[in-house]
Amino acid sequence: MARVIGGISTSHIPSIGKAIENNLQETEYWQPFFKNFPGIHAWLEQEKPDVAVVFYNDHGLEFFLDKKPTFAIGAAASYMNADEGWGIPTIPAIPGDPEFSWHICNHLVESEFDITICQEMKVDHGLTVPMQLMWPNNSYSHMKVIPVCLNVEQHPMPSPKRCYNLGKAIGEAIDSYDKDLKVVVLGTGGLSHQLDGERAGYINKEFDLYCMDKLISDPDELSKLTIHDLIANGGAQGPEFIMWMGMRGALNGELNVLQSDYHAPISNTGAGTMLIENK
Ligand code: DHB
Ligand code: FE
Repeated sequence: MARVIGGISTSHIPSIGKAIENNLQETEYWQPFFKNFPGIHAWLEQEKPDVAVVFYNDHGLEFFLDKKPTFAIGAAASYMNADEGWGIPTIPAIPGDPEFSWHICNHLVESEFDITICQEMKVDHGLTVPMQLMWPNNSYSHMKVIPVCLNVEQHPMPSPKRCYNLGKAIGEAIDSYDKDLKVVVLGTGGLSHQLDGERAGYINKEFDLYCMDKLISDPDELSKLTIHDLIANGGAQGPEFIMWMGMRGALNGELNVLQSDYHAPISNTGAGTMLIENK
């Protein structure tokens, strides 16, 4: 059977893609962020997951404001990417696993989640930057990726609780898939940030650390937060934390935090990087 071997959370901001393009990982500004990744690379190398289920958000590339699914799941054989305006390079097409995607989609609909199933889907920096961070030099051709896209661009957005439950249902779907596959789940985006308006540049370290702590010890407590709580405490783009809640829902075993780091700011964002083993 397939099983979830762990979860990894990371920021997805486009300037990470720029830093990689310009080889700035060791500079004073970027080193406190990039220093977390050699340990993650070593873990991926050791554990050798076959599939990555990636909770991410689309910032206007595939879904614009005219059509905005609350939850969209990729069911394509590969995913093309494009830059929706930040000037970051594209990366080679990302391999998918349509059969596994359909298994997950069937289970989600049976579990009463109204998803949009995408047999074609372009992915933006919300997914490509984490791919570059996890598999440097685009060394992900051995991986199959299942994109799980959550709406955090246009209200109404799904609550942290709803996304946690979506993640749980995805965890159940993975556990019931009849193929011997190791799955890593990624929670991308966050933590606190606000890109425009009166509070532009707002970062709340205390709240970010609270979320990282409760994510492991008491996710039900985080499930009580509303989207507006996330905005009030984490800035207008703070709701990106729902991707972490999706990841956490899929981690349904005994958890062991192998790495947990917080650094702020990178660009306008508080960056939380966690590596969590699921046994
Ligand atoms: C930034 C953060 C984001 O989540 C994003 O999608 C784009 C930019 C930033 O902090 O620069
Ligand atoms: Fe974002």
